[in-house]
Amino acid sequence: MSANKESWGSRVGLILAMAGNAVGLGNFLRFPVQAVQNGGGAFIIPYLVCFLVMGIPLLWIEWSMGRFGGKFGHHSTPFILDTMHKGRFWKYIGVFGIWTNIAVAAYYCYLESWTLSYMMHSAFGSFNGMDQNGVAEFFNHYVNLDASTMGIPYEPIVFFLICLLLNTWILSKGLAGGVERVAKIGMPLLILFGVFLAYKGFTISAGVDGAINDSSVGLNFLWTPDYTKLWSPSVWLAAAGQIFFTLSVGMGTVHCYASYVRGKDDIALNAMSAGWMNEFVEVVLGGAILIPISIGYLGIDRVTELVQFGGLGLGFKTLPYLFLQWGPILGAVAGMMWFGLLFFAGITSSLAMGTPWMGFLQDEFNWKRKSAAWSFGLIVLVLGLPTVIFFNYGVFDEYDYWAGTVSLVVFALFESILFAWVFGMKKGWREITSGADIKVPGIYKFIIKFVTPLLLLWVFIGSLVTPKGGDWGAALSGNWVLDDSSIISKIRNVSLKKDLANAIAAMDTE
Ligand code: PHE
Ligand code: NA
Repeated sequence: MSANKESWGSRVGLILAMAGNAVGLGNFLRFPVQAVQNGGGAFIIPYLVCFLVMGIPLLWIEWSMGRFGGKFGHHSTPFILDTMHKGRFWKYIGVFGIWTNIAVAAYYCYLESWTLSYMMHSAFGSFNGMDQNGVAEFFNHYVNLDASTMGIPYEPIVFFLICLLLNTWILSKGLAGGVERVAKIGMPLLILFGVFLAYKGFTISAGVDGAINDSSVGLNFLWTPDYTKLWSPSVWLAAAGQIFFTLSVGMGTVHCYASYVRGKDDIALNAMSAGWMNEFVEVVLGGAILIPISIGYLGIDRVTELVQFGGLGLGFKTLPYLFLQWGPILGAVAGMMWFGLLFFAGITSSLAMGTPWMGFLQDEFNWKRKSAAWSFGLIVLVLGLPTVIFFNYGVFDEYDYWAGTVSLVVFALFESILFAWVFGMKKGWREITSGADIKVPGIYKFIIKFVTPLLLLWVFIGSLVTPKGGDWGAALSGNWVLDDSSIISKIRNVSLKKDLANAIAAMDTE
């Protein structure tokens, strides 16, 4: 056993760190785009249901697994799972909880580094006087690595390195001295910036500063439920995927943070505080910035069109231009707030991704904290460089698909079976409720045992064999063609082969 005797400094610090873990780029860039792609308001009902019957149970499962493993001196999922049921199988399943974090960090930190650079460019007024195409071109040059926007050669790589060094340095300061401190500063600032931008989003009026719509148009678009979409499995899969990603469940980070909670301390209320804080930031703040502001200036049709090309574009190619409609000063301030908010959201999450690997090395191999932190930084650099260099060839999306989506569902499915059926619901319930500062509703005993694992199984099978266009009706009536987005097609690399074939065809016709 190890000399890893770290722990959290205070309860507020723990909750803020755990909320910082959950609140991330997903809240501001991924959620609004998922909502638009899945029919606006249609998304919100499946989303909330998934939060209640999958998100909350998984939070309780993971917090209690973490605290349980921590009592035995373990802080990474291979060994936490092993304390719950001996056997090589569960230990290997636990490896997901380290690997996923490293692989997600590899592309997540790259994105995080854009926010640093864009914060600087907003402050220095790089976007002043550009039209919308200009701002979009700026981004294209940036990710192409072919422009040095301020005389810095290979600017994206420089900022990627700075971002990694920052993460490594904070991680080497430990939990209470590094991670917790950053969360205590970053989370309040993030909420402050978010409230300001959401206020701007709520008060757009047509005709003022070039807006074409009142803010009500964008908000209604996001919040009017479309009940016809309610029965579409692809909308449910998207909702479930978002819940996983946003709560950071199925990853191993929640286990790791919770394993540093003292054995007698509450987890039931802490888990709810951090989880609901994430939902507030996502639904209230995340839902009021990107889409309402874009729709206010560009209209629903244009925004729906822009969103087709992925969500990152809207946040980086469009908002910096729209902010400048408020004048150069307020525009610069809004830009700094937007990218500053994204940066704090990002770094408090990427720090969380580093801790399982560090805990693993510290506990099981007696590594020093500092060396463990540096090893994380180095691995992320090596794994992340391909996303930087080959960004335009879909490497980034490939990482997001395998590590940021499929892996979470697989791990969550296994851990919920381990918890409810192998470890057993009786012991499991005792773990969740011991030391609890709230009364956990009894219905969750049933939900955790039956509803959560079955739903996870359904989500997994649904993504394995998604029919073309997500049209299950046609598929079940005998016309089954796999969609390119299904896991099976991805394994067979269908979309990649198609892209190549198209590229070759395009060359022939030139
Ligand atoms: N929950 C974070 C977000 O919404 C992402 C994340 C995933 C953080 C995994 C930590 C671990 O962006
Ligand atoms: Na989140």
